[in-house]
Amino acid sequence: MVMEKTRSSRKDVPRAVLFDAYGTLFDVYSVGLLAEQLFPGQGQALGALWRDKQIEYTRLVTTSNDGAHYQPFWDLTRAGLRYACKRLKLSLTTEAEQRLMNQYRHLSAFPENKEVLQSLRDRKLATGILSNGDPDMLGIAVRSAGLDTLLDHVISVDSVRRYKTHPAAYALGEQATGLPAREILFVSSNSWDALAATWYGYQTLWVNRYQLPFEELGVQPTRIGNSLAEVLEFFPD
Ligand code: LAC
Repeated sequence: MVMEKTRSSRKDVPRAVLFDAYGTLFDVYSVGLLAEQLFPGQGQALGALWRDKQIEYTRLVTTSNDGAHYQPFWDLTRAGLRYACKRLKLSLTTEAEQRLMNQYRHLSAFPENKEVLQSLRDRKLATGILSNGDPDMLGIAVRSAGLDTLLDHVISVDSVRRYKTHPAAYALGEQATGLPAREILFVSSNSWDALAATWYGYQTLWVNRYQLPFEELGVQPTRIGNSLAEVLEFFPD
């Protein structure tokens, strides 16, 4: 009885861990700070609307005309910023746009990241990013956060021109690692991403950094935590 339990729980231990990028590995807080500096009193509203619009645009181009209107994440990020400023009646100068976009390129990593990634590597697990970000953006972010030696895969949905939550985007994780989704842990701080990855078949951790409710669509992630360190709970010693 005990042996059987051990065997079945071993079977559940993931063999690779893939992370979402923005908000999960990379802290977008500094973007909000700069937005507040540029537009006092409006930084938070701008940051939130910008992010919502950026994600809305990814869905719009993925679901319309079978992806024919795809644009790289960098371009959608810029479009989202322009929209958000217009909507909030903020005058976005070329210089302000450049500064905000540049800030998006050089995000810092959350402080616990390196230790968690190193522990995963010590356990001989494959690690990677699976992100909407385009390869250039991800490359710069990974290098400027000093994570390049800790990641085996940096996977961008750009190769399939479909954003998450399209199944072709999540399938890239299986293709890169050579493992079925059920043997991969997918980690995201975006609840919609954690939900859709669960639907796809991944084991999932939702990193709920901001004490938000989870999506109300009936399915829960495998685990919920409030820091990336929770990943290690999937790997009992
Ligand atoms: C990403 C966005 C969704 O990195 O955070 O894919």
